[in-house]
Amino acid sequence: MTAQTIPVDPFELIVFGGTGDLSYRKLLPALFHRDCAGQIVGPSRILAVSRRDMSAEAFRNATRDAIERFVAAEDRTPEAVEHFLNRVCYTAVDGTGEAGWGELKEKLSGDGEFVRAFYLAVNPELFGPICANIGRHGLMNAETRVVIEKPIGKDFETAQAVNAAVGAVFDEHQIYRIDHYLGKETVQNLMALRFANALFEPLWNAAHIDHVQITVAENIGVEGRGGYYDTAGALRDMVQNHILQLLCLVAMEAPMSMDADAVRDEKLKVLKALVPITGDNMERMTVRGQYAAGASAGGAVPAYQDELDGDSSATETFVALKAEIANWRWAGVPFYLRTGKRLADRVSEIVVAFHPIPHSIFGSGAGSIAANHLVIRLQPDEGVKLWLMIKDPGPGGMRLKQVPLDMSFAQAFDSRNPDAYERLLMDVIRGNPTLFMRRDEVDAAWQWVDPILEAWKAGGEAPKSYTAGTWGPSASVALIERDGRTWHEESR
Ligand code: BG6
Repeated sequence: MTAQTIPVDPFELIVFGGTGDLSYRKLLPALFHRDCAGQIVGPSRILAVSRRDMSAEAFRNATRDAIERFVAAEDRTPEAVEHFLNRVCYTAVDGTGEAGWGELKEKLSGDGEFVRAFYLAVNPELFGPICANIGRHGLMNAETRVVIEKPIGKDFETAQAVNAAVGAVFDEHQIYRIDHYLGKETVQNLMALRFANALFEPLWNAAHIDHVQITVAENIGVEGRGGYYDTAGALRDMVQNHILQLLCLVAMEAPMSMDADAVRDEKLKVLKALVPITGDNMERMTVRGQYAAGASAGGAVPAYQDELDGDSSATETFVALKAEIANWRWAGVPFYLRTGKRLADRVSEIVVAFHPIPHSIFGSGAGSIAANHLVIRLQPDEGVKLWLMIKDPGPGGMRLKQVPLDMSFAQAFDSRNPDAYERLLMDVIRGNPTLFMRRDEVDAAWQWVDPILEAWKAGGEAPKSYTAGTWGPSASVALIERDGRTWHEESR
C-alpha cells in the first residue's frame, strides 16, 4: 500500500510540545519511518522544544524509548534508530515567555536554506502566543509553515480567535490545520474510489443512493484525557472535524484537480449545504449518550462519570445524527452519523446504501433481495466491500443470497499501512496543503455544529445512558429505524 518514496527537500521541523504525548507517540515514530524509507534526506533535523530543561542526550534517550515502544520490532534496526537519533535535538524554550528564543534562533540554519516548519503540539491556548513569539523573534523564513492540531476553538467564535491569532503572523497558505483522518490511507482511498473509477460516479446521487452511514466507533474510553474531553464531548471531539471531513469526501462534487484549493472549495460547498439542526428538529435528528459502567475492550470498566474523579458531567461520549445536504445531488438522502467511546467494537466505516431494485422477477421462493451496499472500511481491516445479490450455488432452483465482493487491503498489498502522520508530515514539508483544513472549512463546520450544541443546552436534557461495550443508547437505533432503515452490522 505504501506509495513510491520521493524524498522531500531538507528541512528543520521545530516541535513545540516536543516532549509531550503526541510527539513521542505519533510524530517521532512517523518521522522515523520516513527516515527509514529514505524520504528524509540531507541534513534535515527535528528540533524538539518545550519549557523544561533537558540535555540533548536525555532527549535522544527518550526518543529511542519512544521508537522502541511505538514502532514494531520488525520495522526497526539499531542502526536505523541511531541514524534517526542523529537528526533530533532539543532546546528549552518558554513558548509564551522570553526564555530560550535566542538559543533556538541560533540553532536554526540560515535564512532560506531549508524548509522550516513549526509544529505546535501544545494546548491550543498557546497557539497565538507562540506564533507571536515566532514572528517577534524573526524565526520565519521564505519557506516557513506552521502546523496546528485540533481542537481549533470550542465553537465558531473561539475558533475565529485562534485562527486570527495564528493568521496575524502566518499567511493562510502557510497554515496547516491537521485532521489526521485525512492522512489515513483508506480516507484517501475514498477519493481514489470515487474519482479514479468510472463505475460509481453515475450512481453517486439521490436517484440511486438511499442513504449513507458514517460510523466511527471506539472501544476505548477517554484514556487519561478526561480534563480535555469533558470540556469537548463527542460532537466537538469527533464530528466537527473527522466525521464532517469524511462526509465531505463522500458528498463533494469532483474537484477540478487534486490542487489544494480545488478540493477544499468542493468540501466547503458541502459544509455550507448542510441543513441546520436547531431546537425545532433537534429531537428527531440527534441522540446524545454517555456510557455507564459495563465491559469493554475485554474487561469491566467504570462509568464515564466515575473516570472524572467523582465530578458529575453532562458531556456526551456518544452522538448519533441525521444530517441532510440541501443540494441537487443529495436532496432527500440522509447521512446518518454516529461516534462514541466505549462502544462494542473499534470500527470506522462508511456505508453507501443504494436503492432496492424496483421490481423482482424471482418470486417469493428466491428469498428477499437486499439492496446493494458499498462499505468502505477505514479501520481496522481496511478495505472495500460491495454487497451484491447472487444465485445461491447448486441445484434446487433460484435462491438468492447476499455476498460481498471483498477487497481487503492487507491481503491485496503486502506492505505496512503507514500512519496518517507520516503522510501528513511529509506533505507539510512538500508544501502540499490538500489534506489539511482551510480556515473557512473550520468556520463552516462550527457554524453547523454550534446550533446543535445550543439546542442541546437549551433543551436541558441529560445525555442518555448506555452500557459500556454496547452500540450506544437505544435511541440511536430508533433514530434510523424511524426511517425504516437499520445501522449496518455484519459479523466482524
Ligand atoms: C482524536 C480524538 O482526534 O481522534 C480522540 O480526539 C480519538 O478522542 C481519536 O480517540 C481517534 O483517532 P483514531 O485514529 O484512533 O481513529
